[in-house]
Amino acid sequence: MLKILKKIILASNNPGKIREIQSLLDELNIEILPQALFTNEEAEETGQTFLENALIKARHAARLGGLPAIADDSGLEVDALGGAPGVFSARYAGVGVGDQENNAKLLRELAGVEDDKRSARFRCVMVYVRDAEDTDPIVADAAWEGRILRKTRGKNGFGYDPLFFVPEQGCASAELPPEVKNRLSHRGQALRVLARNLHFGKD
Ligand code: IMP
Repeated sequence: MLKILKKIILASNNPGKIREIQSLLDELNIEILPQALFTNEEAEETGQTFLENALIKARHAARLGGLPAIADDSGLEVDALGGAPGVFSARYAGVGVGDQENNAKLLRELAGVEDDKRSARFRCVMVYVRDAEDTDPIVADAAWEGRILRKTRGKNGFGYDPLFFVPEQGCASAELPPEVKNRLSHRGQALRVLARNLHFGKD
């Protein structure tokens, strides 16, 4: 049988994300090409929502690479902080700071907040655009519910993983083996929904 191979640019150069997304799209005969093959120019994430930022990144990649593109944007929403840090998750404690400073700021902001008021979720919005001007992108929006711990636990993952308690596993996200995190996480969920819609959807 003739195999049709579709090429899609992934608007990320993170090797972990590329591997994870490629493994889910393999069975659809889709080949993922990292954005770095086409450009070193990063899109400016000026959006106010995860969706806006994901679309900015996907359109940028599609424009520069001349192929359909997938992009995601994700972050942590803490209920006691009105949804912060949200789209500012990577730069919560300042532009260019590291995970440790962001986690320290989160703990400071939540000092004195009781356990039952520390609910939070990781959210991921993943989009597919056929070209830079696509007016009908495919969108997948997923959340992973948890609670913010009072001190860090675990060494796996990145970002806020050491402070994110996963109730169904009884541990911090940074204590989960990577394959378990990928199965449960906001990104894994969004990716599976997107892959389903690419397969059976409008494309
Ligand atoms: P990005 O949009 O995937 O680059 O994520 C933006 C920021 O959100 C990251 O720099 C992290 O601070 C936070 N974040 C997103 N996903 C995760 C996760 O799975 N674990 C921990 N932090 C995350």
